Amino acid sequence: MLPSGGIWAYSWSQAVGWVALAWCWMTLLLGISLPLLARLRQSRLRGMVEHLHRCTSLTLIALMLVHAVALVWDTMGDGLAAVLVPWMTAYLPGRFPQALGIVSLYMAVLLGVTFYIRRRIGSSLWGMLHRYGVPAVYVLAVWHTLLYGSDIKDGSALRSVLWIVQIPVVGAFLARVWMSSHTRSHLAPPGRPMGRSSIHR
Ligand code: HEM
Ligand code: HEM
Repeated sequence: MLPSGGIWAYSWSQAVGWVALAWCWMTLLLGISLPLLARLRQSRLRGMVEHLHRCTSLTLIALMLVHAVALVWDTMGDGLAAVLVPWMTAYLPGRFPQALGIVSLYMAVLLGVTFYIRRRIGSSLWGMLHRYGVPAVYVLAVWHTLLYGSDIKDGSALRSVLWIVQIPVVGAFLARVWMSSHTRSHLAPPGRPMGRSSIHR
């Protein structure tokens, strides 16, 4: 890639890929703190965190797109279709890992779109899509990175860091599951007022 100049686009894509993954991690933790804050009756803080969560979610989608689309200029031969349609890349060993990233991107877009049409589809359906879509976005993004990243080979420090930062995510999910089993569902309670939550606005 060096002689053809494609290395810049490739390195740019790799760097933005890491920012996207870190952003996804943060967005997930911000999202998961929302029901916990509601439970603690921190409605002002919850409103602020919800606003932040919506901003980081939209930025996340933009980062994912930049990471993928930059590859069109890396002179490896992949066009726009190959980076946006699963199984289209010319690089055969990359088909599965790339498809994981592409599906993660589409799931994130689906979460975003359904938020803005939540009144039409109903807050229960939105809540359900959000609850089950979120782990898909995140797990697919991490899986994609583990399989495809050239900076994260077996035994690298970055790989260990990636595993270590999953500890707060697992902890937050366990706290969420514990909370659900001790209270009624928070995200999709049919007809229950939810304070400052924007899904009923
Ligand atoms: C543009 C896209 C998105 C918007 C507008 C959005 C908005 C929201 C809102 C308003 C809530 C609070 C629901 C409530 O309790 O009232 C929420 C919850 C949540 N969001 Fe998002 N979100 C988006 C994308 C994402 C993404 C990409 C992730 C993860 C990577 C995520 C993770 C979460 C989590 C974990 C919760 C808590 C769900 C639960 O109760 O267990 N969200 N989101
Ligand atoms: C349309 C979707 C996607 C495409 C086409 C795509 C493509 C690629 C490719 C070709 C690589 C290999 C680069 C290398 O050799 O290191 C890669 C690595 C990577 N991707 Fe993606 N990806 C997509 C989605 C995502 C998403 C959603 C995330 C995270 C939120 C992500 C994060 C990463 C990271 C962190 C790496 C490792 C970069 C490195 O090794 O330095 N990708 N991706």
